[in-house]
Amino acid sequence: MRWHVVESYEEMSRMAAGIIAEALERNPRLVLGLATGSTPVGTYRELIKAFQEGKISFKEAFAVNLDEYVGLAPDHPQSYAYFMEEELFSHVDMPPDHRHIPRGLAPDLDEECRRYEEVIRNLGGVDLQLLGIGVNGHIGFNEPGTPFDARTHVVELTPSTREANARFFESIDEVPTHAITMGLGTILEARHILLLASGPTKREAIRALREGEPDPEWPATCLWLHKNVDVIVDREAYGE
Ligand code: PGA
Repeated sequence: MRWHVVESYEEMSRMAAGIIAEALERNPRLVLGLATGSTPVGTYRELIKAFQEGKISFKEAFAVNLDEYVGLAPDHPQSYAYFMEEELFSHVDMPPDHRHIPRGLAPDLDEECRRYEEVIRNLGGVDLQLLGIGVNGHIGFNEPGTPFDARTHVVELTPSTREANARFFESIDEVPTHAITMGLGTILEARHILLLASGPTKREAIRALREGEPDPEWPATCLWLHKNVDVIVDREAYGE
């Protein structure tokens, strides 16, 4: 695990976008695993800038997102499909049929989970997976206690995750209770993983990750089982 401690959210975002841009230049058909939340927004902004300046293109690249809320349509402003459209896809040249996200309105959710695994398999796996981290150490929506070999599945969100995400909704009652998420086993199959964390609310989760031991109570610690992980944290999240 390679640790990069930076001074600010902006520096974290620039470094992350730089790693993604380089990977795209090396392999224009890159399969990118993407994340939602406040953390990657700055990274996406930097990628949009690089695209607008003609430095990178997503024309041949693919995206598979980590997760989606159950019950929200893609045009619901709090759905992750909508988020990705707003924060990245509508600003770059990735063809719509190259972008994948679990379907929160699928009539058969278990079938949707199987379909999503197949989408990833058919793309040849994820080349570079971008991750944020929850205050409880979750990655994707893999909450504490999730087995490290879990595949894409439906999860019941913990109260702490629903509280953390309530800021985006009118009230906590509107935050969905379930989500579809790539499993930890799915995530660990990505060839390269890039985890970002910024700000003091992530300090405890980052402290657990720094322990260096896989611990199912802190899902992100499964990344110690992976050989190719970059962690970019700002000083506030790192805790020194
Ligand atoms: P955040 O969420 O980027 O909005 O802090 C991260 C996460 O919950 O994975």
